[in-house]
Amino acid sequence: MPQNPAAPVVRPRRLRSTPAMRRLVGETTLEARQLVLPVFVADGIDAPRDITSLPGVVQHTVDSIRREALAAAEAGLGGIMLFGVPRDEDKDARGSCGVAPDGILNRALAAVREEVGDDLVVMADTCLDEFTDHGHCGVIGTGARGEVVVDNDATLTAYNELAVAQAAAGAHVVGPSGMMDGQIASIRAALDGQGHHDVAVLAYSAKYASAFYGPFREAVGSSLQGDRKTYQQDPGNLRESSREVRLDLDEGADMVMVKPAMSYLDVLRQTAEISDVPVAAYQVSGEYAMISAAAERGWIDHDPAVMESLLSIRRAGADIVLTYWALLAAKLLAEGRGRR
Ligand code: PBG
Repeated sequence: MPQNPAAPVVRPRRLRSTPAMRRLVGETTLEARQLVLPVFVADGIDAPRDITSLPGVVQHTVDSIRREALAAAEAGLGGIMLFGVPRDEDKDARGSCGVAPDGILNRALAAVREEVGDDLVVMADTCLDEFTDHGHCGVIGTGARGEVVVDNDATLTAYNELAVAQAAAGAHVVGPSGMMDGQIASIRAALDGQGHHDVAVLAYSAKYASAFYGPFREAVGSSLQGDRKTYQQDPGNLRESSREVRLDLDEGADMVMVKPAMSYLDVLRQTAEISDVPVAAYQVSGEYAMISAAAERGWIDHDPAVMESLLSIRRAGADIVLTYWALLAAKLLAEGRGRR
């Protein structure tokens, strides 16, 4: 056969020629230890309850969340992140049931910590929205024109109490997700003031006002009216994220997080470039729901799509990924159906 004079000399395909070659040159790893499972625990239910918009995810009882935590530890996951779902009648304007030691989240934290000890990193969502009757992430007040405002500094005081209560209950890590200014420094000082020097702060640094949180709001029975645009970031802004991340680093964040993940991979990349602490990304409920729904219809191949989504988040710069698929991904990895 005559040689095509324009035949390429440089052939990237050589490195894709066999599975073994691809394994050798694979750049990005995905390991169970890098995954954190977000879980919901509800008060006043006696059996786990399905969440319609998050098929396969449930609201746990305190008993079933113990078993889930054990399964997470056995699967080699890095951690578990707990969200509390109180009874409606326990919600108030200040979110007091988040702070109460017998509040649902604090009881679950204690149970989970008792179950897993130090074998799994136990994390708590440190935010008021699950606990307030108005559904906002902070304490509300009235602005100059009679409008509802989320009062930043009053909220910091509430976060301090919440974080200290979660640390006392057994959280290794608290995760302030309310996007209040100064929340990391405030919580750090409150924790240290109570002797919780070893409790780490995972800062939700770049958290966007996203439509992809929809199913989560069902999961926690949120009563939010309005939106969170006065505290969560505008989806069109990138530079603003580097400011938020730098502030949280200066305030003492032990880890920083970007959320959501898949629509914000550029933010994740930027964060990884400027952060000198581990970077996490939260693959949120809407991301889970999209792939689940498409797969249910036979429009997408579920497991490969899940693994690709997680690998992409790692490739963009996340050291740690919070995902409702953490247990599934660990199983697929153990079976050799993902990247190790
Ligand atoms: C707030 C919080 C939210 C999520 C995690 N923490 C909701 C919000 O900010 O409205 C969303 C997580 C998800 O969608 O999976 N405490």
